[in-house]
Amino acid sequence: MQAAHSVTATVGHAPSVEGIHSSDDAARKAKSESLLSPRFYTTDFKAMDAIDVSPLRAEWDAMMAEYEGDNNHDHFQRTPEFAAEVAQVFSRVSPELREEFLDFLISSVTSEFSGCILYNEIQKNITNPDIKALMRYMARDESRHAGFINQSLRDFGIGLDLGDLKRTKAYTYFKPKYIFYATYLSEKIGYARYITIFRQLERHPEKRFHPIFRWFERWCNDEFRHGESFALIMRTQPHLLKGGNLLWIRFFLLAVYATMYVRDHTRPMLKAAMGLDPTSYDYEVFRITTEITKQVFPISLDTDNPAFRAGLARLFMIQSKMDAAKQRGGIVGKLQQLSCAVAGAATFARLYLMPVHRHELPVNVRVAPSW
Ligand SMILES: [Fe+2]
Ligand SMILES: [Fe+2]
Repeated sequence: MQAAHSVTATVGHAPSVEGIHSSDDAARKAKSESLLSPRFYTTDFKAMDAIDVSPLRAEWDAMMAEYEGDNNHDHFQRTPEFAAEVAQVFSRVSPELREEFLDFLISSVTSEFSGCILYNEIQKNITNPDIKALMRYMARDESRHAGFINQSLRDFGIGLDLGDLKRTKAYTYFKPKYIFYATYLSEKIGYARYITIFRQLERHPEKRFHPIFRWFERWCNDEFRHGESFALIMRTQPHLLKGGNLLWIRFFLLAVYATMYVRDHTRPMLKAAMGLDPTSYDYEVFRITTEITKQVFPISLDTDNPAFRAGLARLFMIQSKMDAAKQRGGIVGKLQQLSCAVAGAATFARLYLMPVHRHELPVNVRVAPSW
């Protein structure tokens, strides 16, 4: 799983980017609970145990064979030149970019590890052989991803103690259906984010300011496959994809998109260093994600609608005001925060009520990672 494990959107405390100088600073950031930061989840294991994938047995078995084949088993190894390359390239970047990059690494490792813990806890607490095997494979992948990013944090002397994070970070309980919607989306949007960055740096290798980006292509295929797994699980339970549940799907789509938009715009330098404009990057990621999610969701957000775009821009503006109000403190600061919270909720509600696109679900569930 990648960057978007946080699904609670709109206004909240943006991750501040002041001073990450030690493992303690990094741990504090990883444990921080804000509306925009990645969370750890737990769920109803009994319900997970009861999932029956037999309606899609052939597609399920084909997917499990891919996990078993494990074509990325040797991918997450650092080359001997890796650390030297970091030192060389990174000596040229500004302190502000360094700070945003470290913030990005910390939120990414937290997201990856969040997936690792959730999948591992599910597999430990169930006996259903299909789901147990799937969760074990996904936990394997996420543990590699988290470990690989953590090595890059260690280059800066700020590696995270993942065991401590597991014991001390707060957990959020989500019903299984919310886990399906949120985790499916987070895996797919994670794929779209990584592949868009990878393609950009493929075209502009001079903008690759850290070697980790070279790993993104094969990496995001893992995330894509994790998303496929949740797509199959949801398609075996058609009631999750119609009727009143469409309101939940709509909510999760908007929450994930809005969270990503606000986060990316609070870290504009990271994208600029890659030659990407955060707004165009985000809409490209939404376009890819929307294409993919047609495999399960009969609705999609109209992200090209100017009113939708204006709404997201407004959410970011409100978030910036909220951060300024927090900095200010005191009664005036509190009142300003309250007014931002109200404005943020109203903007989110207006976005939520905008018309959506509707489509039929395809007969074949699986999609190929072709971007
Ligand atoms: Fe994943
Ligand atoms: Fe991952």
